[in-house]
Amino acid sequence: MTWTEAAVVSRSAATPDIAVIDLAPVAGAAFPAYTAGAHIDVLIDSGLVRQYSLCGPPERGTYRVAVLNEPASRGGSRAMHALKVGDRLRISAPRNRFPLVRARRHLLFAGGIGITPLLAMVRRLRHERAEYTLHYCARGRGRAAFVADLADDPRVTFHFDDEDPGQLLDLARDLGGPRPGTAVYICGPDGFMDHLLGGAETLGWPKEALHKERFGDPPVVTGSSAGAFTVRLAATGAEYLIPEGRSVLEVLLENGVDAPFSCQQGICGTCVVRVLAGDPDHRDDVLTDEERADGLFTICSSRAFSPVLELDLT
Ligand code: FES
Repeated sequence: MTWTEAAVVSRSAATPDIAVIDLAPVAGAAFPAYTAGAHIDVLIDSGLVRQYSLCGPPERGTYRVAVLNEPASRGGSRAMHALKVGDRLRISAPRNRFPLVRARRHLLFAGGIGITPLLAMVRRLRHERAEYTLHYCARGRGRAAFVADLADDPRVTFHFDDEDPGQLLDLARDLGGPRPGTAVYICGPDGFMDHLLGGAETLGWPKEALHKERFGDPPVVTGSSAGAFTVRLAATGAEYLIPEGRSVLEVLLENGVDAPFSCQQGICGTCVVRVLAGDPDHRDDVLTDEERADGLFTICSSRAFSPVLELDLT
């Protein structure tokens, strides 16, 4: 990963828990352009890498991120909330694993801080005069970021947990059954994603119509693939035991293997390698069914059902 130094040029509070941070280049060159749904990786001082969606108007030349302060996190949100104007940090170029797709209409569902990539998408869709609807769910109006940016838009519906029950998200009403030419975008924390994706499946939506980005900590691995297995690197034949509770990535890095990685949560796709033999248990939230069928595998989060997994790594 190539890192670029960026400076904090503005910082404000969208809510008591959500900081909005604008970053600008330190050395003269402009930041690369990005498309709606893109994120940047941020290298936190402790060595953690975290992904934040870009949610500001792209024409400004700065990158805007919004960060929820999560006391239970591993330190990324705390470090981001401690930033002051003038502080510097290292960021990656934008990448987009959650782009807008060509569709006749776009149906967007945001849960809490999951509004960030969808806000950029709404701006883009407005600009293109495309047909879209956004459903924005949050615990309460005072805890939801960017309400003022969206309040005047008749195509946006808010759903707040602490207001009239009649306005809560109702999947039968707000998502409904599949409609040809409609793309659905879902972004939010685990509980929200599971509710939406489970509901969409029950309502009969095909997987190809659903586009998703999950916020939150890596999934807890349980079940038949949680135990130890061996990884063999095809190029060298070297074998490594992956014990229960440790990832392939952790073990490979510990043994000096130059493996690519970023989020370590199965959501960014940086660590993807090809499986040459064995039966993988995919525990990521980034690969499509086609990519999995094509042999791709995330070494930061996925495991194996078979005793040995051979990977296309040196
Ligand atoms: S490092 Fe991001 S998916 Fe593995």
